[in-house]
This record gives sequence, C-alpha cells and structure tokens, in this order.
Amino acid sequence: MNSAATRSASFLPPILLAVVLAVVSCSAKVETGAGSAPADADTVATAEHGEYVVRIAGCHDCHTPGFFYNAPDYKRALSGSEIGWVGPWGTTYARNLTPDMETGIGSWSEDDIVRALQTGKRPDGTTLNPPMPWPNFAYMTKKDVHSVAKYLKSLPPVSHVNLPILPPGQKPGGSAVNFPPPPSNWDVPKTP
Ligand code: HEC
Repeated sequence: MNSAATRSASFLPPILLAVVLAVVSCSAKVETGAGSAPADADTVATAEHGEYVVRIAGCHDCHTPGFFYNAPDYKRALSGSEIGWVGPWGTTYARNLTPDMETGIGSWSEDDIVRALQTGKRPDGTTLNPPMPWPNFAYMTKKDVHSVAKYLKSLPPVSHVNLPILPPGQKPGGSAVNFPPPPSNWDVPKTP
C-alpha cells in the first residue's frame, strides 16, 4: 500500500504533491483537536463552573442573606434566609444550601441535589414549593446541574437553622413577601 501511494505520488507534479500533503497534515490536526478539548469542555462538571451557574441562575437572590437589601453577605453565601414567601402554598423560606450536617444539606449526595433541581423532589420524597424555581432548573444541561451540585458540596458549612414551612392561612412571625390575590382577570392562574 505504501509503495502504491509512493507510485501514484510520483506521477503528481511537485507543486500539487505539496498541496496534497499540506491538506492531509492539516485535516489530521483538526481531527485530534475536535476529538479532545471541546468534548471535555462540554461535559466535565466542575465546582468552578458551578459557581458561575449559581451566580447567573440567581440562587444568591433568595438563598444568600442580605441580597434583597442590596448587600449580599457572601461570607454566609447560600446559608438561607429568614424572609418568608407567602402564597397559596403557605409560607416558605429559602433554605440553607451549605454542606452543614445539622442545618444544611451536608447529608445530601451530589445526585440528591441534581434530582431536587431537576424534579423538585427532596431525598425524603417531599416536593419543593414556590418560589423555588426548580421547573426552570430542570432545563439545565447535565454539566451545569452537576457543576452546581459540586459547587454546593464545596462551600464552607454555615450553621443556620431553617425556619419551618407554615401551612396556608398561618401568619408568619417575621417579615414576609406576600403574593396578593390577582388584581384582575389578566393574572388569574389558568389551569393548563
Ligand atoms: C426565588 C427564590 C429562589 C431562588 C432564585 C432559588 N431558590 Fe432554592 N429555594 C427557595 C425556597 C423558598 C426554598 C424552600 C422551598 C420549600 O421549603 O418548599 C428553596 C429550596 C431549595 C432547595 C431544597 C433545600 C432543602 O433543604 O430542602 C435546594 C437544594 C435549592 N433551593 C437550591 C437552589 C439553587 C441551586 C438555586 C439556583 C440554581 C436556587 N435554589 C434558587 C427559593 C429560591
């Protein structure tokens, strides 16, 4: 086969031969490049990428104290908030997402976190209430959602006890964001 290639090459004018060789060596280079770097960049989950996703997905808004007062305290990043969210579901509080074993999600595995973000189900089978926007996070890529889980696992644990969920109709003791009834027909929830 080698000798066949040499034989046919010897019929080509030298300038054409140079072009053929250049094209062959070029395409070989492109192939190795495409096979390694971009594939890794698309699939490998890292805590570093998770930090970025957490920022742009707005997790700090609700889960980092001080955010809604324009002064997020990143020393206690994602350790939960005591602002209540009141709606037809009752009152909920954005919870402690740091890996503290007693008060955070230290006992959750990476897969537990991924499942909660993609299906709204906690490891104990209960469902995450509003305003936790897990139906949006269900659209994250595998890389993004696993990166978020890795980042949460890498946070310094902060001890902060979550306030308990209150049933509908029970008034929260502290400050709360209340969702008023719709002002007009325009905002009335439509059943799908
Ligand atoms: C608009 C406010 C809001 C945003 C934004 C938000 N969350 Fe939440 N999150 C909540 C609330 C409120 C709860 C508690 C829901 C409940 O108790 O049923 C919660 C609960 C959770 C839980 C369950 C923890 C537990 O102990 O049960 C996880 C995990 C979580 N959020 C992760 C995230 C991540 C990661 C992001 C960003 C990608 C995020 N949240 C963005 C409000 C928010």
